[in-house]
Amino acid sequence: MDWPSGCSLEPKNKIKTMGYEREKYFEAVKKQVGENKYTFLHSLELEACMGGIYDYLQEQGQLGSEEPGREDWLLAGLIHDIDYCKGYEETHPAKTREVLAKYGLEISDAVDRIIKAHAPERTGISPRNKAEWALFCADSLTGLINCVALIMPSKKMVEVKLSSVVKRFLKEPKFAAGTRRNEVAQCVNPEGLNIPLEKFIEICLISMQKIAPEIGL
Ligand SMILES: [Fe+2]
Repeated sequence: MDWPSGCSLEPKNKIKTMGYEREKYFEAVKKQVGENKYTFLHSLELEACMGGIYDYLQEQGQLGSEEPGREDWLLAGLIHDIDYCKGYEETHPAKTREVLAKYGLEISDAVDRIIKAHAPERTGISPRNKAEWALFCADSLTGLINCVALIMPSKKMVEVKLSSVVKRFLKEPKFAAGTRRNEVAQCVNPEGLNIPLEKFIEICLISMQKIAPEIGL
């Protein structure tokens, strides 16, 4: 996939966090997967989606006190593919902590579990709380939304319409065929996120549109 020129891979606005230094994790992801521009952009997009899903559920009063905090959701999105790179392909995403240790960085057990639960077939850990379901369901949706943007004449994410994404998702299974539509569609699971599919797609699209200008999409 060709990305538009002008993509600097450097979000201009630094996200402020309370509990961890986001820039350090950002730099670690950039160094580790930076050669794979797609994985890096996907990491930033999934970070944004995790924030959007958290905010929606919070507004709906659906986040229990046992849920990880918002910063854990964001961090899990940002670093979830940090071990999706040379030497670790076979074990991804089980080696997140090992890769982070190279940069002197650590994560909580909650963040580690969110990441492991986004690939249960590899880790044996299935999503349990809403943070884990959010990463699991949103992971492969960002690619489809990117593809919808890139086939538009302007190639601009901000111009992508929800109806276009929903149509491609539901009615054109060959479009962005690598999208794990069955996983995305589990957002409706009442014991998971319990978010209608169209609303879930809308949350992710809007979240990605918010950061798109910063990453040149
Ligand atoms: Fe991913």
